[in-house]
Amino acid sequence: MAAPLGLFSVLAFALLLAASSVTSHNAQEGFSYSGAKGPSNWGHLSSKNSACSNGKTQSPVNVVKNQTVLSKSLTPLIRDYHPVNATLVNNGFSIAIVFEEEVGVLMVGNKNYSFKQMHWHTPSEHYLDGAQYPAELHLVHQAKDGSLAVAAILYDYGKPDRFLQKIEKGLAEMAQETCGLDEESHVALGFFNPKNIKRSTRKYYRYIGSTTTPPCTEQVVWNILGKVRTISKEQVQLLKAPLYSDCKNNCRPVQPLNGRQIQLYDELSH
Ligand SMILES: *[C@@H]1O[C@H](CO)[C@@H](O)[C@H](O)[C@H]1NC(C)=O
Ligand SMILES: *[C@@H]1O[C@H](CO)[C@@H](O)[C@H](O)[C@H]1NC(C)=O
Ligand SMILES: *[C@@H]1O[C@H](CO)[C@@H](O)[C@H](O)[C@H]1NC(C)=O
Repeated sequence: MAAPLGLFSVLAFALLLAASSVTSHNAQEGFSYSGAKGPSNWGHLSSKNSACSNGKTQSPVNVVKNQTVLSKSLTPLIRDYHPVNATLVNNGFSIAIVFEEEVGVLMVGNKNYSFKQMHWHTPSEHYLDGAQYPAELHLVHQAKDGSLAVAAILYDYGKPDRFLQKIEKGLAEMAQETCGLDEESHVALGFFNPKNIKRSTRKYYRYIGSTTTPPCTEQVVWNILGKVRTISKEQVQLLKAPLYSDCKNNCRPVQPLNGRQIQLYDELSH
C-alpha cells in the first residue's frame, strides 16, 4: 500500500506544481479573467492600468440597437488587405494571428490604420441588445501616431467559420504543446490571405472606447460589424483549448457607457 500511495502523492504534487506554474506565468503577464488578477482588480495590478478602474470611456459595452443614432456622416469601413506571411500565437490569455509585414489598412474617415493583429474572445465581449455571443474576433489596427481602431465581428453558433477552418490544424497543434506554458507558443501559418475577413460591411456600430485588456488604453475607435457570423461549437472549443485554465472565458465584463452615444452606419440610408 505504501508504495502506490507514495507514488500517488508524488503525482499529485507534480500536478499541483504544474497547476501553479500556469498561475505564476499568468501572474507575470499581470492579469487573468478570474480571481485576484481578474477584471475587477486590473486597475490595481499596476499603476499603468489605472484607466481599467478610473476610465470613463471603457470597453466592451452593450449595444442597444434602438438607442444607437443613425449617422449620415459616417463613411463605409474600407479595409484594404493583402496576403502576407502570418504567425498563430498563443499568449495564454488569447489566440492571435500576427503579421510581420504590412498587410493593409482600415480607413476611418481620412485616417489610415495599419492592420497589426487579430485575436479571439470566447465568449463575446460586446453584447447586442443584452445578448452575449459565443465568440468575438478583434481586428486590431494602429495609425502612425499610435492610436488604435478595432473592427469587431460577433459569432453565433451555426455553420463552421470558413476562415477558422484554415487554422484548425495549427490550433490543435497548440493545444498539444506542453512547453507553451512558459512562453508564448507560435505556429507559422505561411502565406495568409485575409480575403475571408474583409468582406464589405453594410452596417456597423461606432463608438469611442478602450482596449479590453490592461492597460485599458482609451481613445480606441470601435467598429462593431452589424452582421453576426457563425462558428461551430467545435471551433469555439479549439480556440479555448490552448489557453490557461483561468483565461478560457477571456471576456471582460460590459462597461458603462457614461453618456457615450453609439452611432450606426447603414449603407441603405446613404
Ligand atoms: C490610405 O490607404 C489607401 C489604401 O491603401 C491609400 O490609397 C491612401 O493613399 C492612404 N491614405 C493616406 C492618407 O495615407
Ligand atoms: C429598446 O430595446 C430594448 C432591448 O431590446 C427594449 O427592452 C426596449 O423596450 C426598446 N425600447 C423601445 C423604445 O423600443
Ligand atoms: C513566407 O512563407 C513561406 C513559406 O510558407 C517562405 O517560403 C517565404 O520565404 C516567406 N516569406 C517571407 C517574406 O518571410
